Amino acid sequence: MSDTQALKRRAGESAANLVEDGMVVGLGTGSTAAEAIRALGDRVDAGLDIAGVPTSYQSRELAREAGVPLTTLADVDTLGIAIDGADQIVGADLVKGGGAAHAREKYVDAAAERFVVVADPSKTASVLDHPVPVEVLPDAKPVVADTVRNLGAEPSLREAERKDGPVVTDNGNLVLDCDFGELPNPGATALDLDAVPGIVEHGVFPSMADEVHVGTEDGVTVEY
Ligand code: 5RP
Repeated sequence: MSDTQALKRRAGESAANLVEDGMVVGLGTGSTAAEAIRALGDRVDAGLDIAGVPTSYQSRELAREAGVPLTTLADVDTLGIAIDGADQIVGADLVKGGGAAHAREKYVDAAAERFVVVADPSKTASVLDHPVPVEVLPDAKPVVADTVRNLGAEPSLREAERKDGPVVTDNGNLVLDCDFGELPNPGATALDLDAVPGIVEHGVFPSMADEVHVGTEDGVTVEY
């Protein structure tokens, strides 16, 4: 395991330890949330009684492998906690969507009574400047790209790692990574993007984190 993955594991385990018997848990996407899902699987093996709401195909399959029982948001009254990663973190403000799962992540994380972000130290920053992933309906890509340019960003279509075509989300849509430079007012940027027809969801999560668990060489720091 790489050094960074060990830090992600610490953060994931720390968040998984917050989960109590009877809770419904939002299961985030990405390599850090995956560590939390594996840690939850270990706790289920040891007798913890929970159900998870996955935010992606990837997190659903991992939860199945790890033995975490699954449910859906539509089938529960309350979601006690959601545990998810982030691409960049400034206080409670996040940019997410590196795994193209931010549409489901946003409504699951927002529905949780306690939204816990898990990360390694490279994710924390003093100002958000990470390109914002924007999920678009495929036919709307050109008009959304123009609108986003008018908002001051440079959009680029996310390509699959194998270079055999664009990334397609679990919802059948495309992703434009929109470079705004710095985001001094993430709430305002989120509102601008919320208003663009053809955007399904974007990766600005303003004021959403309740706490941030960062794995470090010495343990875990809990921020915000
Ligand atoms: C997926 C996400 C991820 O949580 C984010 O990209 C962080 O991933 P990782 O923990 O692998 O760095 O937003 O849409």
